[in-house]
Amino acid sequence: MTAIQPPRPRTYELPGNYYTDLDVYRRELQTIWRSTWQWVGRLEDLTNPGDYLATVLGEEPIFVVRGGDGELLAMHNVCPHRGARLLPQKQGSCKFLQCPYHAWTFDLSGKLLAVAQPGWFPELDKSAVRLAGAQVDSWGGFVFVNPDPEGECLAEYLAGVPDYLNQYGQRWEDLRQIAHFTREEPINWKFQIENFVEDYHFATVHAETLTPLYDVQRIGTIPAGRHINIPVPYAPNCPPKDPQRRRWEAGGVSYQGFIFPNITYGTSAHTVFFSRYIPVNPTVTRFEAFIYQTPAQHAAEPYIGEAGPSKVGQEDTDVCTLLQEGVRSRAYQISHLAEEHELGISHFYNTVRAYLG
Ligand code: FES
Ligand SMILES: [Fe+2]
Repeated sequence: MTAIQPPRPRTYELPGNYYTDLDVYRRELQTIWRSTWQWVGRLEDLTNPGDYLATVLGEEPIFVVRGGDGELLAMHNVCPHRGARLLPQKQGSCKFLQCPYHAWTFDLSGKLLAVAQPGWFPELDKSAVRLAGAQVDSWGGFVFVNPDPEGECLAEYLAGVPDYLNQYGQRWEDLRQIAHFTREEPINWKFQIENFVEDYHFATVHAETLTPLYDVQRIGTIPAGRHINIPVPYAPNCPPKDPQRRRWEAGGVSYQGFIFPNITYGTSAHTVFFSRYIPVNPTVTRFEAFIYQTPAQHAAEPYIGEAGPSKVGQEDTDVCTLLQEGVRSRAYQISHLAEEHELGISHFYNTVRAYLG
């Protein structure tokens, strides 16, 4: 008698414990969040020498500062004396950097200028002490930081995305923030990305919000390196009601997509949104959304969207919560993915696997 073989797991899926386990989460912190380019702010927030932006990428406290000579610099926000966090986690301006613990003082390029009680450190060679550097660069006014000082530059990392985004008929550098909202969700960050990069759910989940607006059959999923470009053509016919009718563009395309590891974005004729997903722990993620317009777009049609999470956002949160509720089950599996319309998911799985090994 032939033994019945248990079904073989599909090679492309991530096991369910990738969405719940602390061990996997810690591996993500040490790989993905420690060595990828991540979006931290906009150039217009860092105009003058001394303007800074301090944040935490995974477990890496980092800041970006406009140096004395106008150059943009990124450094680890950790004092080389005994490791205290230097700058508060916010946006601000300073003439030099002074550690709040024992007052070691650094210039804007991270060089040690002075220590309190220098006579107590007879061996100290100040010229050999400086803040640890990180990589910083910008595209389209968006400032990116990589905590890893080595490795590929931003242009190499983003390859395939700028060419796609340049099809949007606006200068990305001219965008200015119009609205911002944030919320914490009881969902692993990867489920939120996976939901964004597939459109198979539009007909059910967004039946009233997005389905009348877009030509769902023609939505593209185009992997570009670790990222995914998602051109979304508008529906052939004008939607009957607002707000979809206001956003519809005859023959137009909404340029949407995902930049690894945690940015999603989309354009419309009058606005751009950029969102990021910040893991708080294995099953909680902070979602931050920013709405931008160029001055011309703002003059033509001032943004009047919802002040809080959009209806579409709530629809997505609700279904991602369903995934988180199913993932601990012994029956959790990915049996099939739609060829084109869920292609983004298998691409994302492969990218995550490449980092986690
Ligand atoms: S830890 Fe910064 S001066 Fe001591
Ligand atoms: Fe959605």
